[in-house]
Amino acid sequence: MKILVTGGLGFIGSHTVVELQNQGFDVVIIDDLSNSSEDVLKGITAITNKTPEFEKLDLREKAKVQEFFKKHQDISGVIHFAASKAVGESVGNPLLYYENNINTLVYLLQELQQKSEASFIFSSSCTVYGQAEVMPITENASIQTAMSPYGNTKQIGEEIITDTAKVTNINAILLRYFNPIGAHPSAEIGELPLGVPQNLVPFITQTGFGLRQELSVFGGDYPTPDGTCIRDYIHVVDLAKAHVIAMQRLLEKKNLEKIEIFNLGTGTGSSVLEVIHSFEKVSGQKLPYKIVPRREGDVISAYANTDKANNVLGWTAQSTLDQAIESAWKWEQKVRS
Ligand code: WQD
Repeated sequence: MKILVTGGLGFIGSHTVVELQNQGFDVVIIDDLSNSSEDVLKGITAITNKTPEFEKLDLREKAKVQEFFKKHQDISGVIHFAASKAVGESVGNPLLYYENNINTLVYLLQELQQKSEASFIFSSSCTVYGQAEVMPITENASIQTAMSPYGNTKQIGEEIITDTAKVTNINAILLRYFNPIGAHPSAEIGELPLGVPQNLVPFITQTGFGLRQELSVFGGDYPTPDGTCIRDYIHVVDLAKAHVIAMQRLLEKKNLEKIEIFNLGTGTGSSVLEVIHSFEKVSGQKLPYKIVPRREGDVISAYANTDKANNVLGWTAQSTLDQAIESAWKWEQKVRS
């Protein structure tokens, strides 16, 4: 079985390619290398002893997408990661996000609807829930008005896929990630450090390594036990495994509906200070940080109700926060060596 992984040289994409190849799938990757590097192929090969096919391609070029699918008629399923994903950047450059995250999805679905059947896994985000009223968050929680163009592209993407699956032979699973962190235990692949990290964990590991002066904790006056925001930090390998299970579910026609939605998290919320303490425990060193004013757009708390993923999808996150942070730290040290 051949699976197309768009954005397959990216952070979550590359870890998913590893798990797909571990399960015996053949993989072809499309990536435009705007936020990744072809060197990631070496890491995937080092882990699995198998090199996936790779085509550098900008999915915004419709003719190129059509050409690709003519050449690869034997694709059984698609896992679609390729998208721009920096929340802050999307506010200043919305059209880049609508073009790169929406047009590309439409071009992919237009190709898939021509096949006799197609399995489609979509990379969505807990961002669609905004600040949910009830914790932990279930898949039935209401979708709030997006706080950024990035979040809006995930909501619109889900709607486009839902409308399309209803009237075509496409079956889809929408995976709403909470906060992916960490790296493959081999440290052969991980989150590529391009520019100043926006996310908490890469900023922590870079600070731990001495690349950053100190961590700014965005807000210490939230209505939470220690005053800092709470998130559900999930190891990227656990997340990758969920994608393979979801793809197998569709290929084996075990899905109960044409569209299924699953929250992917650990079910445990951790505060910013708890993540800092986890880093200090696994690294054995103090992390310099200071509490600064809140960051615009942050929700107070978000962590997953994992019942549906556990009981219907048959997947449960295995790694603890400490294990995920330890893998992130090991990767940081490897990348800098
Ligand atoms: C986590 C917590 C920050 C950096 C975003 C996207 C989401 C998904 C994951 C793509 C927050 C605090 C952070 C720092 C800090 N991305 N923080 N100092 O915002 O929960 O989710 O990334 O799919 O869609 O919204 O993740 O890691 O940026 O922040 O105090 O230097 O860490 O305030 O409370 P977030 P994050």
